[in-house]
Order: sequence, then structure tokens, then C-alpha cells
Amino acid sequence: MRKKILAANWKMNLTHVEAESYVEAFLHEVGEVNDVEIVIIPSFTSIPTLAQASGNAPLIRLGAQNLHWERSGAFTGEISATMLRALFVKYVIIGHSERRTLFGETDEMVQKKVHTALEAGLRPIMCVGESLAERESGSVQKVLGRQVAEGLKGVSADHLPEIVLAYEPVWAIGTGLTASPAQAEEVHAFLRSLLAELFDKSVADRTRIQYGGSVKPENTEDLMREPNIDGALIGGASLDPHSFARIVRATEKALR
Ligand code: PGA
Repeated sequence: MRKKILAANWKMNLTHVEAESYVEAFLHEVGEVNDVEIVIIPSFTSIPTLAQASGNAPLIRLGAQNLHWERSGAFTGEISATMLRALFVKYVIIGHSERRTLFGETDEMVQKKVHTALEAGLRPIMCVGESLAERESGSVQKVLGRQVAEGLKGVSADHLPEIVLAYEPVWAIGTGLTASPAQAEEVHAFLRSLLAELFDKSVADRTRIQYGGSVKPENTEDLMREPNIDGALIGGASLDPHSFARIVRATEKALR
């Protein structure tokens, strides 16, 4: 019922020239994929190149790593939803933990960005996740509860399934430490029940919840077998087209 979604978050890596050869290698290796949605989320400068490449290869959907909540204006260095839509961008990451911790993004900003994205027809990939200290002090549910409720405040139930929620425990991002499938599943089940409480059960059941944090070809299949894990947001292991293609294949295997 929920199509699995794999999103490659390249962060601040790969030039547009490198992006071109990446796509060629990835498509060659991955072949035909029917039951998994694939999103590539490059730097802004590579979006035009990928828009062109993905136009020829409908297999790949395009995402952006950030956007500003205003439509236009004097916001030096920012990117608008309209600019992204004009390049056929479909998804946008909002509230990644690196944005929250390194660039001061708050739940309130996340909320404004979610609304702006939805109004423009972009699908938010809204990231939530606890730090190691928060996990150790037993406040995982409290932290995630706040991030989800604040980030999604004012979103209508009809719009919820357009949003992808990404659970990314901060302690697992780029550290090589992955949440075990059981640990991740426990949180995903909690997040789904939270969505059911905030919206309703049927829309919660249709909303995809991705896992992110040191996903690699080797741990993908087990994570993807969990009933509430609907895909992955992949950083480091998505930078190599062969490794990302292996993640796609491991996901397909988990579906069989
Ligand atoms: P990682 O990053 O796969 O390198 O841990 C995931 C993310 O930050 O989205």
C-alpha cells in the first residue's frame, strides 16, 4: 500500500559534472525498477543537470535539500519553492538535523517550510530524530512528539500522505552506527501512532516513514523488511552510484 521510497541525500558533495556521470552509471547498474520510488537529492547547482537526465529517465525523481519559506524577495542566498518547481523538483528535505544543529533551524521554521512546500506542490521529506543524550535520558518519544506536532501543525489530513516523514536518529547520521531494525521499527510504529492521533488512522497508514542514519547496502534488506519502515534517506552510501544501486536491489529483495 505504501510504495517504498529511497532518497539519496548527497549533502554538499558532487559537482554537476560528477552528477552527470553518476546518473549514467546508476541507471546502467540498476536496470528496471518498478516497485520502489527513487529520489536523488543533489546540491542546487546540480539540479538542472539532473532535471535533464531524469527527464530522459523517469525512474529518477528529483529532490532539493532545502528551501526558503517565503515565495520571493530580499533573502540573499536562499532558494524558493517556485525556483525548485521550475526545475521539476518533486521532493524537498526539510528540517534535516544538520540544518537544525549547524544552521539554527527551529521547529517553527520547519513548519513554515512544510506549508510553503505543500502550497507549491512540493512534497516535504520532513526529518525528525533524537540526539544520543536524548535517547540515553529516555526522551525519544517526547522529542519526536514535539518535532512532529510542531512541524506538521496546521497541515490538513488530506495533505499528510504527500509528506514523507524521515526518522533520522542524530547519533546514527554519518557515524556508521545504525539503529537496529528492531530499534528503528519501534520508533516508526510510535511515529505512525502519533500521526494517527494527530490526524487519523487511515491517513497515517498511507503516510510513508523513511529511516535514515548510516544506511548501507549491507543493512538495507533487514531494515526494509520491517513493516513500518517505508524506505530510507541515505547520505554517505548514496554518493557512489554502485552502492546506491545495491541499496535499491536490497530493497527490492526485501519486498519479495
Ligand atoms: P548517512 O546520512 O547515511 O551518511 O548517515 C543520512 C542523512 O543525513 O540523511
